[in-house]
Amino acid sequence: MKHSITLNVNGDTYNLAVDPWRTLNEVLREDLNLTGTKFGCGSGDCGACTVMLDGRAVSSCLTLAVEADGKEILTVEGLAPSGEKLHPIQEAFIEKGAIQCGFCTPGMEIAALDLLRRNPGPKEDQIREALAGNLCRCTGYAKIVEAVQDAADKMKSNQS
Ligand code: FES
Ligand code: FES
Repeated sequence: MKHSITLNVNGDTYNLAVDPWRTLNEVLREDLNLTGTKFGCGSGDCGACTVMLDGRAVSSCLTLAVEADGKEILTVEGLAPSGEKLHPIQEAFIEKGAIQCGFCTPGMEIAALDLLRRNPGPKEDQIREALAGNLCRCTGYAKIVEAVQDAADKMKSNQS
């Protein structure tokens, strides 16, 4: 039997009927066509599926859609909602060359946002620790860490 749920995704409200076993990742990608959030391992190991759920980074492959009922979800598409101005994290990833194939990038950027909201001035080891659950199969970690440091600077100067 399907369950009626309401998802608030990137500021938009969706009323959906979903099977109770479907994951948030499936519903975002297949029902809402928000394919920026990737599906990698499906078992909580790679971080490619990371989204914000009520302000906290979670693996959408391990989260049932019904668990997200009534909650606020932010996906990578929501970082630049107008499509015109990128989020400082996205700008930093581009400027620092922190994207190779790009498969890990949405999850990395959401994990970075989660970190920078909690710690606006992280040290390198704190960035590495915060991103430890996000795997980059292209192994571009050095530039990703640089990008997060740069994003922290950009976000601070945006506030000042
Ligand atoms: S797809 Fe969710 S952690 Fe890998
Ligand atoms: S850029 Fe290819 S997986 Fe990270």
